[in-house]
Amino acid sequence: MASDTMPPPIDQMAATILDDSPDSSALWAQFSDRVLIKTIVSRSDGGGGLAGQKVRVGGWVKTGREQGKGSFAFLELNDGSCPANLQVIIDKEVSSLEQLVQTGTCIYVQGELKKPPEGTKQKVELRVEKVIDVGPVDPAKYPLPKTKLTLEFLRDFVHLRPRTNTISAVARIRNALAYATHTFFQKHGFLYVHTPIITTSDCEGAGEMFQVTTLFSDAEKLEKELKQHPLPSESEIETAKLLVREKGDIVTQLKSAKASKVEISTAVSELTRAKDSLARLEDRSKLKPGLPQKDGKIDYSRDFFARQAFLTVSGQLQVEGFACALSSVYTFGPTFRAEHSHTSRHLAEFWMVEPEIAFADLKDNMNCAEAYVKFLCQWLLDNCLDDMEFIVKNFDKSAIDRLKMVASTPFKRISYTEAVQLLVNVTDKKFEKKVEWGIDLASEHERYLTEVIFKKPVIVYNYPKEIKAFYMRLNDDTKTVAAMDVLVPKVGELVGGSQREERYEVIEKRILEMGLPLEPYDWYLDLRRYGTVKHCGFGLGFERMVLFATGIDNIRDVIPFPRYPGRADL
Ligand code: 4AD
Ligand code: MG
Repeated sequence: MASDTMPPPIDQMAATILDDSPDSSALWAQFSDRVLIKTIVSRSDGGGGLAGQKVRVGGWVKTGREQGKGSFAFLELNDGSCPANLQVIIDKEVSSLEQLVQTGTCIYVQGELKKPPEGTKQKVELRVEKVIDVGPVDPAKYPLPKTKLTLEFLRDFVHLRPRTNTISAVARIRNALAYATHTFFQKHGFLYVHTPIITTSDCEGAGEMFQVTTLFSDAEKLEKELKQHPLPSESEIETAKLLVREKGDIVTQLKSAKASKVEISTAVSELTRAKDSLARLEDRSKLKPGLPQKDGKIDYSRDFFARQAFLTVSGQLQVEGFACALSSVYTFGPTFRAEHSHTSRHLAEFWMVEPEIAFADLKDNMNCAEAYVKFLCQWLLDNCLDDMEFIVKNFDKSAIDRLKMVASTPFKRISYTEAVQLLVNVTDKKFEKKVEWGIDLASEHERYLTEVIFKKPVIVYNYPKEIKAFYMRLNDDTKTVAAMDVLVPKVGELVGGSQREERYEVIEKRILEMGLPLEPYDWYLDLRRYGTVKHCGFGLGFERMVLFATGIDNIRDVIPFPRYPGRADL
């Protein structure tokens, strides 16, 4: 984009605006020479009180139409600062209108805010006096025309879909939830710890990890190189050996003939060169295309980390190390699962919030999870109401009511055994998976509990040890572990957590019982060997929280760049 003439000095413009009382002045943006549309249209007076002010705005045209036989155009302009658009009017004397009215065009303009004629919906509109910059769009090629597009269609354009009302609302809600997360934990004295993304420990012990390796690219590089420079043939090596012998003989002869020092040392360097070149050829002849092998298996000691490494499925194990020193901590980062789930609730890459608390048990854990989820809901009501109203209008009529209900209603807490009893007695619905004590509750069961039976969030605790991870604390009944899942309407499982097994002998036995190797967890066992402490924690699936808040159907639409089986665009 290039501006034709220099705009008037903005400092002057801002100064005149700032002279006015705060109520009647538009707020100039920081670090960007314009006024954010939000600060105009999201005021309690809808921006009406700003009439008469000169502002600059920038944004992307949502819709545009020429009016008055092409003498002027109306544009709906959005800059992403809020769901609402600013109505912009441009006369053909100011700029040619044809390009400006195309959906997707970027414009950067200045003009005067005016009160529109009585009876119109807007409280304020911008009369453009000057078009500073235009980022044009060829409507024949632009993939996001103004017609209503399905979220599924938009997944083919993850780089452009933030331009749509829905994805931008979701992005703002997601941002608010991240900010709320840090606010909640910081407010309660938790320390934010960055746990590793590359790890050598399988936290859930489920073997659903993506491997991190350079062995394949190394093998490919070698293969390519060998095509260009094939391995030395036997005759090449023989020739090199012969040369070493010849050069050696020359040195011997010169020495016995008592030749000069200079002659001998020249012959010795030639011998050394011949030996080096032979060694190089012999080394190369040992190169084997493909993956390095040892004892019939892939030799990971030759891999980048000199051992097998993976993308983390959870930061829990590492964050426990910090909890067992700094007391209350949390990690919030991307996690990865190579499960071939094609459901609307699973991603291969998702974000998880994982607090971990020392000197705390399962009840403290439940209290923390409940307070945190409530805080998130209240935060959206307090800070994101305009986006939530958009969601209610377009996706889920009950979204705001659901947030209010969760923010204000105590969660139901029941044991796994009680939950199974309730589900076994259900007569008005046939579950696909039969309910009996010992099964891992499926999404249909979880949703029935929270949506139909209790109609509010439910915390299920004390699960059978066979279906839960090795690190969960064994209860006195020796059949169940101190696990807890928070189930919410629309989503099912939102949070999974537990009190951790702090007893060395018990956890060692559990690891072995589950058929896991001890060696990768040896460092983790140190936390029990030295200064062990009662502690607990949980993981909240961040995208599940966005799903719950928005009522959007598919988890692929609430993460900016979804990754799932068969798909990792950009
Ligand atoms: O229940 P999960 O597997 O628990 C853990 O990973 C523990 N290590 C957490 C802890 O105690 N620190 O996962 C936690 C949450 C689930 O409740 C769910 O909300 C979400 O993460 N989750 C997923 N979200 C999207 N896609 C997936 N494939 C998910 N798997 C789990
Ligand atoms: Mg779980």
